[in-house]
Amino acid sequence: MARLTEARMELNRVQARKISAENYRALHGGQRVMQFIKGEKIYLRPLLRTDLNAIYLGWVNDAEVTSFMIRPFPLTMEGLEGYYEHMTQTYDNVIFAICTLTGEHIGNVTLNEIDWISRVANTGIMIGHKEFWHLGIGTEATRLLVYYAFNTLNLRKIWAGVNEKHEHSIKMYEKNGFQYGACLEKELYYRGSYLNKMIMSIFRSRTE
Ligand SMILES: CC(C)(COP(=O)(O)OP(=O)(O)OC[C@H]1O[C@@H](n2cnc3c(N)ncnc32)[C@H](O)[C@@H]1OP(=O)(O)O)[C@@H](O)C(=O)NCCC(=O)NCCS
Repeated sequence: MARLTEARMELNRVQARKISAENYRALHGGQRVMQFIKGEKIYLRPLLRTDLNAIYLGWVNDAEVTSFMIRPFPLTMEGLEGYYEHMTQTYDNVIFAICTLTGEHIGNVTLNEIDWISRVANTGIMIGHKEFWHLGIGTEATRLLVYYAFNTLNLRKIWAGVNEKHEHSIKMYEKNGFQYGACLEKELYYRGSYLNKMIMSIFRSRTE
């Protein structure tokens, strides 16, 4: 009996060592360990503090990446850390790292301001690594996120606010079944003009 208990304890120790080795790999560019949601071209995993590096900082300070995003301000590492804390320490937001199947972090996709009573959230996405644009990854990341929002979080409506000139993003949401819900007239200042903000949304079921 004592030997059996000892054997179990040793097994637990071995498993604990294995798990921490896997965590180590995950934190240092390892793959597969943290595939929270797996797709065909990419997977989504938690965004880690170790993802807050110079590459990520480069994305959020790249005018081409941020041109249709809300805050065109220069961002420091402290600012990025503040955003990370905000997104990961509250229950009203979810942020996923978008990773290629080989484990490269190429962007993020989010659920923001989740209203747990009305079961509604808005969504945002940034593929910071521009070489990965136009490959269907934004469409797939959004599809996986919406599936998670509806089937795991039991949300019933997801919406996105999109600049009317951002055709690429509009097509991406349309491809995922988002429909025009509202138009906020001349809501956005963009390159010298005031443009409409299109509210695009998808319902889990119209009858809910
Ligand atoms: C917007 C963004 C997420 C799109 O991701 P992506 O992986 O490049 O998008 P996809 O490849 O899935 O393209 C979706 C559809 O957009 C359309 N599209 C692609 N490139 C386009 C372009 N240059 N202009 C207009 N439409 C375009 C296509 O119809 C495409 O589907 P298809 O290739 O099957 O025909 C990505 O470009 C990005 O992160 N941009 C910077 C941040 C940003 O603007 N975020 C969104 C704020 S609302």
